[in-house]
Amino acid sequence: MSFTIKVNGNTHSVDVESDTPLLWVLRDALGMTGTKFGCGMALCGACTVHIDGVATRSCITPIDGIGTSEITTIEAIGATPVGARVQQVWLDREVVQCGYCQSGQIMSASALLASNPHPTDSNIDDAMSGNICRCGTYVRIREAIKQAAQSSGKGG
Ligand code: FES
Ligand code: FES
Repeated sequence: MSFTIKVNGNTHSVDVESDTPLLWVLRDALGMTGTKFGCGMALCGACTVHIDGVATRSCITPIDGIGTSEITTIEAIGATPVGARVQQVWLDREVVQCGYCQSGQIMSASALLASNPHPTDSNIDDAMSGNICRCGTYVRIREAIKQAAQSSGKGG
């Protein structure tokens, strides 16, 4: 079947089965490999994208449910003020180890800060608990999110 989806501000037509997960549409049909496959069962967060600004597990989101929603991926999150800030603090804090989980981490952190610019520790833990990091970067992730929150309003 043919579907038209909006990704990072661009409209794409793809010809896939109606139950194809968005993750595979992004990676295989559109060649956008920044969004990662980890578990395929909504358990790890590696595949997190934004759908209308909400952090969403693309591995369990079928293409036929997306409609006219706006999809944002790691490839374009840096074009948003919050995403740019998150990416900068990720660099400042040297959060990344192997990197595999980090696009999902950044997408979840950006969605959190966009909806809640000054999250509490508990808000951070709730928002990030579904993003697994086998390298154990959790402490740096939490500190980076706090730094991004503190710098909000300083240049967007
Ligand atoms: S690959 Fe989607 S949550 Fe793990
Ligand atoms: S940085 Fe390696 S899995 Fe998170």
